[in-house]
Amino acid sequence: MSVRMLTFAVLILLAGSCYYDKEEDLYPGLPGSSCDTTGVTWSGTVAPLMASNCNACHNPAAPSGNVVTSTFDGLKTAVNSGIFWKAINHEAGASPMPQGGNKLPDCDLRKIKAWIDAGAPQN
Ligand code: HEC
Repeated sequence: MSVRMLTFAVLILLAGSCYYDKEEDLYPGLPGSSCDTTGVTWSGTVAPLMASNCNACHNPAAPSGNVVTSTFDGLKTAVNSGIFWKAINHEAGASPMPQGGNKLPDCDLRKIKAWIDAGAPQN
């Protein structure tokens, strides 16, 4: 094999290796791709999502729309009234949240939904 052909072969191999990344690893939020909703908890999953997306505008000192997401009790109240899911899932009857921002990634919404469907426990 000539050096030229060898170089070509190596390049082909290198280029091919770029395509081993699985789609679901690259785009975990895509509908249909894997999204692990098992083991979802309030403290480990939902509370951190609230902290990074909601609590700045929804804490006891600044409860926008009279909604608090930074405490379990505040969140539970919004969940029980139904307004919480409508707001984050951008459904009619609620202001879309986070206000002024993008809808949360699909996988995050599915995790939150799994927690709500489990009865929104304080776990
Ligand atoms: C930049 C500030 C801001 C952020 C970030 C934000 N909100 Fe809000 N939110 C508001 C304001 C202001 C209101 C009250 C006015 C309104 O309903 O539009 C509100 C209202 C709400 C309501 C009541 C909606 C209704 O129709 O009565 C819910 C539920 C809510 N927010 C949940 C959330 C959640 C959950 C997040 C995070 C995913 C979030 N918000 C992020 C500012 C914010």
